[in-house]
Amino acid sequence: MTDWHEWHTSYADDTSALSRRLRLVQRHIGDWLDERPESWLRVVSVCAGQGDDLVGVVARRLDAYRVHATLIEKDPRNVAAARERTATAGLDGITVMCADAGDFAAYRTAVPADLVLLVGVLGNISDQDVRATIALLPRLCAPGATVVWTRTRRDPDLTPAVRRWFAEVGFTERAFDAPPDALFSVGVHLFHGQPESPPASGRIFTFVR
Ligand SMILES: C[S@@+](CC[C@H](N)C(=O)[O-])C[C@H]1O[C@@H](n2cnc3c(N)ncnc32)[C@H](O)[C@@H]1O
Repeated sequence: MTDWHEWHTSYADDTSALSRRLRLVQRHIGDWLDERPESWLRVVSVCAGQGDDLVGVVARRLDAYRVHATLIEKDPRNVAAARERTATAGLDGITVMCADAGDFAAYRTAVPADLVLLVGVLGNISDQDVRATIALLPRLCAPGATVVWTRTRRDPDLTPAVRRWFAEVGFTERAFDAPPDALFSVGVHLFHGQPESPPASGRIFTFVR
């Protein structure tokens, strides 16, 4: 199985594919904040790692106070790193929770969210779980929510199906970044369907790596 703490060291290299992907995700988070006028916005990051994407953006903004986020991460080392980062940046609105993001129980106080970050998740679960997770997103989303997601396009490329599955459950595509010289992709989908209540607990997905 992958060492998910070690995995983050690729972010130290600005030229790595992972750093390129991070910059794209961060740009979409910044765009989302610029577009939303509300003074109180809720964010949930599913399998948040060390929080590089959201924390990296919010720490640089004067309107950080608008962001009330829950970062759900299972590896205690990454949880500690994310907590240290949010404390250093003085981001009181960001809570880092050490929990299994594959179970609805982790989301009890975190949703409905205006922004759902599904970054580094869809490539680490079975295709069946990818479809099931997308189908369950209306249970995590507030009306008008945005979902930022990533997925490798390595053969067999699942992203055409992923984009179709989003459409089937009430999302419209805002962006799909697929650099020709890289295998990663970053998608942004807007929820215009009816939010559904999440169950108190129950399986969403299971990591296979
Ligand atoms: C590919 S990394 C992505 C991290 C982060 N989203 C990013 O893009 O920088 C996947 C992360 O999911 C975490 N993880 C794996 N299974 C998990 C689970 N069931 N619940 C919460 N986090 C999990 C790993 O520890 C790892 O930090």
